[in-house]
Amino acid sequence: MSGFSTDWLALREHADLRARDTSLARLLGDHLTRQSPVRVVDVGAGTGANLRATAPYLGPLQSWHLLDHDPELLAAAGSALAAWADEAEIEGSGLFLTRGAQHIHVTVELVDLSAHPEAAASRAPHLVTASAFFDLASAAWIERFTAAVARAQAVFFTVLTCDGRNDWAPPHATDAAVAAAFRTHQGRDKGFGPAAGDVATDLLLHAFHQHGYETRVQDSPWLLDAADAADRRLMAALATGTADAAGETGFVPPARLDAWLEARQEARQCRIGHADLLAWPKTSPQRR
Ligand SMILES: C[S@@+](CC[C@H](N)C(=O)[O-])C[C@H]1O[C@@H](n2cnc3c(N)ncnc32)[C@H](O)[C@@H]1O
Repeated sequence: MSGFSTDWLALREHADLRARDTSLARLLGDHLTRQSPVRVVDVGAGTGANLRATAPYLGPLQSWHLLDHDPELLAAAGSALAAWADEAEIEGSGLFLTRGAQHIHVTVELVDLSAHPEAAASRAPHLVTASAFFDLASAAWIERFTAAVARAQAVFFTVLTCDGRNDWAPPHATDAAVAAAFRTHQGRDKGFGPAAGDVATDLLLHAFHQHGYETRVQDSPWLLDAADAADRRLMAALATGTADAAGETGFVPPARLDAWLEARQEARQCRIGHADLLAWPKTSPQRR
């Protein structure tokens, strides 16, 4: 349905975890020390990877609401989170997880966020968060979404938004052509209108400043090395996905694209640029 398979999300989770900027995650934790339980909404939650990575930085009592439009991914989130936790119990329509000293209540909601950006803020969250999501959204959607988050005066934290800097080693003569075609594809409608792609972080920054938020951004690139078996599998899938997307634009002749893909299956390293962003209301919300 969404074009994101559980296999792809599982394949990237180790690289995502390594890439996330931990200083920003710690600062997030500092902003939310007084909220207990801290109420979190995760937009485009997929199989729950963002919860698994972010929860350790928050307090002992947490309540997470996962939003996604793909029922298969949300179903997979339940099992992945139960496997991640030390203990998991079904509680009403939710899941109650214990991991170390943390107690995390999780609910999920099937929702098409493209039509309902305000769903992110409808439960008076302390934190609205996402991972690998905002490059899919459009500029107009980001405006409506940030307005809803700001009305709720929630803290905002998003990680792993593509920044357009993709470098492979060793270099190949078709790299620039493939990168340009891939960027064009990235800007196509992913369900929210023309996608923001690699300017998503700038749009979020601008919108949150307009709403009187303070912000901090950090780079969070994937640094992948073919000497590592898990990285190698991710690089192979990434090369195929990049070639498929570039091919759909028709901008790169098929023979050149095939040669690029063949060479990329043998690549030694690659760096895929992302950014993490934390935004918080200037008049800080130590109030709920
Ligand atoms: C790249 S995946 C990231 C998933 C997860 N956050 C992670 O980091 O593994 C993007 C997610 O956005 C969800 N998504 C895309 N369009 C959506 C929409 N219109 N409404 C709700 N979720 C959507 C997809 O189903 C997918 O789970």
